[in-house]
Amino acid sequence: MSNPTPARKRVLSGMRPTGKPHLGNYMGALHNWVRLQNDPQYECYFFIADWHALTTDYADTSQIKQNTLDVAIDYLAAGLDPAGSVLFVQSHIPQHAEFHLLLSMITPLGWLERVPSYKEQQENLKGKDLSTYGFLGYPLLQAADILIYQPDFVPVGQDQAAHVELTREVARRFNQFYKCPDRSEILPEPQVLLTPSPKLPGTDGRKMSKSYGNTILLSDPEPEIRAKLKTMVTDTARIRRTDPGNPDKCPVGDLHKIFSSQQTLAKVYEGCTTAGIGCIECKSWAADAIVSALAPIQERRLHFEQHPALVADIFNDGARRATARAEQTMHEVRAAMGLAGATAQ
Ligand code: TRP
Ligand code: SF4
Repeated sequence: MSNPTPARKRVLSGMRPTGKPHLGNYMGALHNWVRLQNDPQYECYFFIADWHALTTDYADTSQIKQNTLDVAIDYLAAGLDPAGSVLFVQSHIPQHAEFHLLLSMITPLGWLERVPSYKEQQENLKGKDLSTYGFLGYPLLQAADILIYQPDFVPVGQDQAAHVELTREVARRFNQFYKCPDRSEILPEPQVLLTPSPKLPGTDGRKMSKSYGNTILLSDPEPEIRAKLKTMVTDTARIRRTDPGNPDKCPVGDLHKIFSSQQTLAKVYEGCTTAGIGCIECKSWAADAIVSALAPIQERRLHFEQHPALVADIFNDGARRATARAEQTMHEVRAAMGLAGATAQ
């Protein structure tokens, strides 16, 4: 008797379209997603959370469509591929909204109020009025995004771990209230798959982040990358060319550790600590490494930019596949909750 093929583990993750993806988004998410996609033991779903962009940008929605397209192109440019992953846009799957509404009925307010990002973001984005229903519900919309695909794993960064924890609590509560006649647990609790994230500084030495304006974009042309590297801060103890420095205390050193070969890295340590090289030269090596890491990504980006219909086709087909999977869960959910919609179709 031959062994049946074990079921593949389902993986789901997403990103908010708040601007063009940068190196931090790549190292912190996309790079890891591509790895999961290319591992045959996983069945992958990756989406663009455009409704989530509304939770903070509701007053000016003019960028969301373009940002969604930019992220879609960068997903494909980074190596996500419809042959290996279901790629889609959240707002193309209205079932997420239906599920969010149903989950909102069983979610205690206190659970949402104590999600750490709720108060933090309100503090950080003082210029925006975030005392809205939608902003409070953000993590629950995320829970709906996740649970509707009944995934095993949700690969995210540490900053999202609390949202996955809330998702697990909501699933547990749902399963206590509503049962399926033929299956006791409708919503399996997904596990967080923490993305290992190397320290990736932006040009000012702080964590690379759009809100700090210190990013290197995946779509930046080579001269732009080189210009940004030139302005990058270095080991502050290395004031004069003749002062030795320490790559472990230098943001440029951090970039070398991620992108440069062992050989270049050795030259950086040797040259920096003995004042044998200048920072300008060292930065140009870091730029070389980043430019060559981004070359295949930019080549694919160009291809998709030149063929927008191809991008639309990929995401439309992804919507079709995601809808089929989401509908399957919603069918069970409606039935278990005793809703009339369960008998429709
Ligand atoms: N909140 C996530 C972020 O800001 C984006 C997101 C929305 C998400 N829904 C999700 C991530 C579901 C993982 C799973 O990055
Ligand atoms: Fe940083 Fe390189 Fe200058 Fe050393 S030589 S301080 S690692 S930029």
